[in-house]
Amino acid sequence: MVKLIIDTDPGIDDAMAIFYAAAAPDIDLLGLTTIFGNVTTATATRNALRLLEAVELDVPVAAGATVPLVLPPFNPSSHVHGDEGFGDIPAAEPKGKPLEEDAAAFLCRMAREHKGELVVCPIGPLTNIALAMQRDPEFIQNVKSIVVMGGSLEEGGNITPHAEANIYHDPHAADVVCQGGAKVVFVGLDVTHRILCLAEDFEAIAARSPELGGMLQEMSYFYLKFYHEVAGKNGCSLHDPAAVIACTHPELFGMRDMPLEVSCEGETSGATLAAPQSGRDPVKVCMTVDAEAVKSQFLKRLALLP
Ligand code: BDR
Ligand code: CA
Repeated sequence: MVKLIIDTDPGIDDAMAIFYAAAAPDIDLLGLTTIFGNVTTATATRNALRLLEAVELDVPVAAGATVPLVLPPFNPSSHVHGDEGFGDIPAAEPKGKPLEEDAAAFLCRMAREHKGELVVCPIGPLTNIALAMQRDPEFIQNVKSIVVMGGSLEEGGNITPHAEANIYHDPHAADVVCQGGAKVVFVGLDVTHRILCLAEDFEAIAARSPELGGMLQEMSYFYLKFYHEVAGKNGCSLHDPAAVIACTHPELFGMRDMPLEVSCEGETSGATLAAPQSGRDPVKVCMTVDAEAVKSQFLKRLALLP
């Protein structure tokens, strides 16, 4: 059983990842922390609470940073995820409230309380994780691992030719996280672009679980349309679910150990770069994946949704 906190900007594929984690019997979801990216932090917090209420999971949500470490604030990716983050599904107020404690404080406390056991899975920009590392020098020792959805080494970017969106939105924070060494795993576009979910897969999820699966299917229309129009693809990438699956099934991924740096300037800003001369400790970067196995793991667990 993996004790997990997901740091998230929900987001359509974030919602898929959170429903996956809620359904997976090998994941003990201890909470969610929120961040800007696909939506603002305020909307991400509301959406995180909504998703937990939908799956009837009573775990805390801690709201995160509202701006990047160094860069100015930016407009969220509403062309990819819709104005409210869930495609054309309208905004709704959750019943619950976030914790008083902010995301970085919550992450540091949970890492201390579950020393050596907590896996943190950031599936949005890395600001909260960098803040946790800066606030508590023992945070990185206390966590078991940090499994990031982000980056790209050989695949090129998805927001610029060089950068993957989560890294691009706060490259300075991502560069801090790259200094976490062997405990940090990057699940980036080199693997997530190979894991595609089709309209008929969401149809099957909705047929088994009309309410929750139906919600995912409704969101997926918007996401699939974006992938079709922008990338000419017939399916959408399971970016964020892949990172959550890597937390429990690392054997489905081929990882390379390498020191990594993040470009923070100019047209390459947000690019993740191998940095053998940097003197940094190597992180783990996923370079290959058994895409069919990850996808069938995703569909198998979502079939457990009520
Ligand atoms: C990442 O960016 C966001 O749009 C997705 O939710 C995912 O976390 C993919 O580049
Ligand atoms: Ca995300």
